[in-house]
Amino acid sequence: MKNKLEEIKKQALTEINSVNTLEEIESIKVKFLGRKGELTNIRRGIKDLSLEEKPVIGDLANRVAGEIESKIQEKYQALYKAEIAKKLETEKIDITLPGVSRPYGAQHPLTSTINDIAAIFQGMGFSLAENINSPEVETEYYNFDALNFPPDHPAKDMQDTFYTLNAPNLLLRSQTSNSQIRGMEKKAPPLRIISPGRVYRSEAVSSRKNNLFHQVEGLMVDKDVTFGDLKGVLNEFTRQFFGQSRPTRFRTSYFPFTEPSVEIDVQCIMCQGKGCRTCSGTGWLEILGAGMVDPNVLKNVNIDPDSYSGFAFGMGVERLAMLKYAINDIRLFFNNDVRFLEQF
Ligand code: PHE
Repeated sequence: MKNKLEEIKKQALTEINSVNTLEEIESIKVKFLGRKGELTNIRRGIKDLSLEEKPVIGDLANRVAGEIESKIQEKYQALYKAEIAKKLETEKIDITLPGVSRPYGAQHPLTSTINDIAAIFQGMGFSLAENINSPEVETEYYNFDALNFPPDHPAKDMQDTFYTLNAPNLLLRSQTSNSQIRGMEKKAPPLRIISPGRVYRSEAVSSRKNNLFHQVEGLMVDKDVTFGDLKGVLNEFTRQFFGQSRPTRFRTSYFPFTEPSVEIDVQCIMCQGKGCRTCSGTGWLEILGAGMVDPNVLKNVNIDPDSYSGFAFGMGVERLAMLKYAINDIRLFFNNDVRFLEQF
């Protein structure tokens, strides 16, 4: 038995010396020290030995096991170290290589323009009406009738407005003014809301016109709201939006839902009022329509026009962005050409 143990030891040490991988050393451990290993088998037989032999062989078996164990441990450490060193060598990161650059995304200029407009009016006490209040697919009632459009108004013509084929009174809203009606139906005055969104018109697409564009609608209704309030609020808006005191001009106009109605022009940004192609030689550019809310509109939403008055305005977002950033073609907003978008 003693010889057998010595033999096992010798064999184990030779095998340990000759292995080169961590897996091999693991299997040697199982082979010699595992539950079914050679050494374990011998140790199981010790109980059948004579009383004199038992302690001697038992002691030797323990020492052999201990020696094999520590050799395995030693070899394991050495192999492990070697493996790590090899990994460090081969998996070295070359920090001189340029990294993969990930370009930053940015807000679309229309989004940032809408946000800028909203922030200015929010600073004057207006709150953002949730878009859910004013859908883009709208009924004729909210887009036209409740806004005091007469039944035969030319804007209602198919030439100007997109109607849906399956439901005769459903259309793509041609203006954000539907949010006036929906806003007043939802909340009683006092009321100060702005509502940005998409609108659609059946128009020939050109550098100045697109079938789809954006507006920001505004509405204030309270006791004793006057035309002076309208002028003050919208002059303050143009001052803040263009970042300087740009001359503005209020021109009388007509909208079915406001009385009196105005259109506001700002001095042409391209020629500083001298007259150029952009402003068709007039020196002025129209940026929004506005007016005092027509009493008929208030009546349509059960607000008493003898107690309340208000003003409303609607501005074209593309037009404002084109003026602010000197962009000469409205289609650039919708082509998604990165070379254009990257400039903002
Ligand atoms: N809805 C009008 C347009 O699209 C603009 C407007 C809004 C005018 C509110 C007056 C009041 O032209």
